[in-house]
Amino acid sequence: MKILFVCLGNICRSPLAAAVLKQKLQQEGLLDRVEVDSCGTADFHVGEAPDERTIAVAERNQVPIAHVARQLTRKDLDEFDLVLAMDRSIMRHINVLGKGRGKAEVRLFRTFDPLPENYEVPDPYYGDDSAFDRTYEIVNRTCDGIVKYIKEKLNV
Ligand code: 4NP
Repeated sequence: MKILFVCLGNICRSPLAAAVLKQKLQQEGLLDRVEVDSCGTADFHVGEAPDERTIAVAERNQVPIAHVARQLTRKDLDEFDLVLAMDRSIMRHINVLGKGRGKAEVRLFRTFDPLPENYEVPDPYYGDDSAFDRTYEIVNRTCDGIVKYIKEKLNV
């Protein structure tokens, strides 16, 4: 199974989500069954490491994080099984790019959140460290929901 997280810049929300999900899958012994990646709809930060505040919040929560930002391509929408958008604007972008024809199931990330509020992960980029703590809290809870979904899909 291949899962792709998508945000705007690929330096805050989606690389954090990928790092958190990978850690949870590793703890469950499932990392060899699932491929996890992230990307952005924009090209502003391609080639860059995650934002230093993303790295800091990952470190505060003992989550290993290493990623090089890349931009979403049409090919991703055929290669991944599940593509999870961090907000509705990202979801629209993905659907325009894929024209509904890709193999991937495209969903809002927070459809896996038991407390989904408006189903969007607010962009922390213009916020402070507390915005990144809030992002982590949402991402952590939602990734628990994704692990549950993966276990059901894999029958484990
Ligand atoms: P992300 O956050 O989409 O969660 O990675 C952002 C990163 C960069 C920008 C906006 C949002 N930017 O405008 O450069």
